[in-house]
Amino acid sequence: MNQQVLLRRRPEGVPAADDFEMAERPVGKPGPGEVLLKNLYLSIDPAIRGWMSDAKSYLPPIELGAPVRSGTLSQIVESHADDWPAGQIVQALATWESFSVVPTENLHGKVRAIEGIPLHAMLSVLGGNGLTAYFGLLEVGQPREGETVLVSAAAGGVGSIVGQIARIQGCRAVGLTGSDEKCAWLTDELGYDAAINYKRADLKAALKESCPKGVDVFFDSVGGDLLNTALTRLNRKGRVVLCGAISQINATELPPGPSNYLQLLAKSARMEGFTTLDFARRYDEGRAQLAQWIREGKLRYRDEIVEGIDQAPSHLLRLFSGDHRGKLMVKLADPEV
Ligand SMILES: NC(=O)c1ccc[n+]([C@@H]2O[C@H](COP(=O)([O-])OP(=O)(O)OC[C@H]3O[C@@H](n4cnc5c(N)ncnc54)[C@H](OP(=O)(O)O)[C@@H]3O)[C@@H](O)[C@H]2O)c1
Repeated sequence: MNQQVLLRRRPEGVPAADDFEMAERPVGKPGPGEVLLKNLYLSIDPAIRGWMSDAKSYLPPIELGAPVRSGTLSQIVESHADDWPAGQIVQALATWESFSVVPTENLHGKVRAIEGIPLHAMLSVLGGNGLTAYFGLLEVGQPREGETVLVSAAAGGVGSIVGQIARIQGCRAVGLTGSDEKCAWLTDELGYDAAINYKRADLKAALKESCPKGVDVFFDSVGGDLLNTALTRLNRKGRVVLCGAISQINATELPPGPSNYLQLLAKSARMEGFTTLDFARRYDEGRAQLAQWIREGKLRYRDEIVEGIDQAPSHLLRLFSGDHRGKLMVKLADPEV
């Protein structure tokens, strides 16, 4: 039988445990051009919250009563598609269930074991999070040696990688996060030059102190008030990398735009959005560089993994409480050798 977590109703604001329900159904049969996946790890991402609402987006909303959509690390157990043999481990867009039937368009790459790096890292530092940090910072932010890079949600899956890449580029990295413990992790273990607990600090004063030469690149995953305040420290020709806006993801009404946006005009600065998919053709390059930095001891990562599909909803809620460091994922099974 196939264990699933279904979307029972669309959340109002922050998702609640009873927006989901467990189900058990027979395992599906793949048709032509489809594969049957055994899901090994579920990637817990803010994007899932977006797909749970019925707002228009780059993917259709998850249907009510259907299993929750998710990035996964999966193993093909039955294939009706050329080039995707049974046994192959893949990165996929699948669903919160033990087995998923998906078309090959949902298979985002074959996973090859990299010596010394655990399989689950293919879903975090060598997967969506690492690639988002890598291409978002280097291609959109274009940091130069000696510049200051400010990062919001800095202790999360993406942000914890961004600051370290900024340091590798010879920049000053300053992180914003929501607890003193996470600030200490950023500076003591990940090498951030400074970290600010935005929940406790007078943010404007703290930014002045931590970014004495202003901000050249703001890698923003939070939006809202944080973005508004950070804009006031932006340097001439500064770059704001619009990665996400998690402070607004649970809003029930359209939030107001950043009232400080004319800072972009005053500083001849730019703000540019991106999706990691924009760089899909260069994933192998990004992954190779990230893996090299890990092997050289320049890049550290942390994956918070819980076991069992029934844990997926509560693990998702941790994204909004901020009660985690690094990447969240759920383990369902080991691959078969
Ligand atoms: N553009 C793309 O292609 C792309 C791809 C992947 C992810 N993203 C975006 O990148 C961002 C980070 O994703 P992630 O997977 O790495 O998640 P994450 O950073 O691991 O988790 C989210 C973090 O955001 C902070 N947060 C939550 N609610 C907040 C609020 N109301 N105000 C301020 N901070 C809040 C929390 O940390 P604190 O304790 O620091 O508050 C929380 O730990 C998200 O915005 C996501 O949508 C974009």
